[in-house]
Amino acid sequence: MLRVVVCVSGGGTNLQAIIDGVAQGAICNTDLVRVISNNPGAYALKRAKAAGIEGVCVSPKEFEDRQQFEEALIRCVEEAEPDLVVLAGFLVKIPVQLIRRYQNRIINIHPSLIPAFCGTGYYGLKVHEAALKRGVKITGATVHFVDEGMDTGPIIKQKAVKVYADDTPEILQKRVMEEAEWVLLPWCINLIAAGQVKVENGRVTITE
Ligand code: GAR
Repeated sequence: MLRVVVCVSGGGTNLQAIIDGVAQGAICNTDLVRVISNNPGAYALKRAKAAGIEGVCVSPKEFEDRQQFEEALIRCVEEAEPDLVVLAGFLVKIPVQLIRRYQNRIINIHPSLIPAFCGTGYYGLKVHEAALKRGVKITGATVHFVDEGMDTGPIIKQKAVKVYADDTPEILQKRVMEEAEWVLLPWCINLIAAGQVKVENGRVTITE
């Protein structure tokens, strides 16, 4: 069984897609052992509770400084002994020690086709605002391994989504979630649980 910790900050629709994927058998061989939120009010924590998954909040506001928060976050991940950490809308910069300890074992979902509209400052609705401002006709979502850069790690899978002339950031965000994110993330976790994802020289190959 692949032990998975999911980190969240907000609504948790991607978390829900993972929970449903496990329940419905689209994600096999996977145990969702803990959900970690940096935000005590995250609706994602309610989703975890409803699914019978342990939810833990590690809020930076509870700590004197960034270092203490990061240490607590690392402890919270390590205690759960995960094989894989999934960042599902987790809007915290991951401590570098965690990235080094879990090399190629942390994945993130980003709501664009990386390398477009990613990196510092591009998260949530801001990504879709930037895509509309630039006038792209296609956007999408990307699942990638997390390295020490911002959205620079090896890409596992991407899915394209059409942009329409009358889209607002909110409409586009919803389409990208429905058509790409909620499909891609469960798909990638299932592939990892099946041992089908290999990283070599910064590139991912998916084996049959
Ligand atoms: C998702 O669109 C996810 O791709 C994005 O935050 C949203 C979280 O929604 N993540 C980023 O922008 C990371 N840079 P959710 O809480 O409903 O899953």
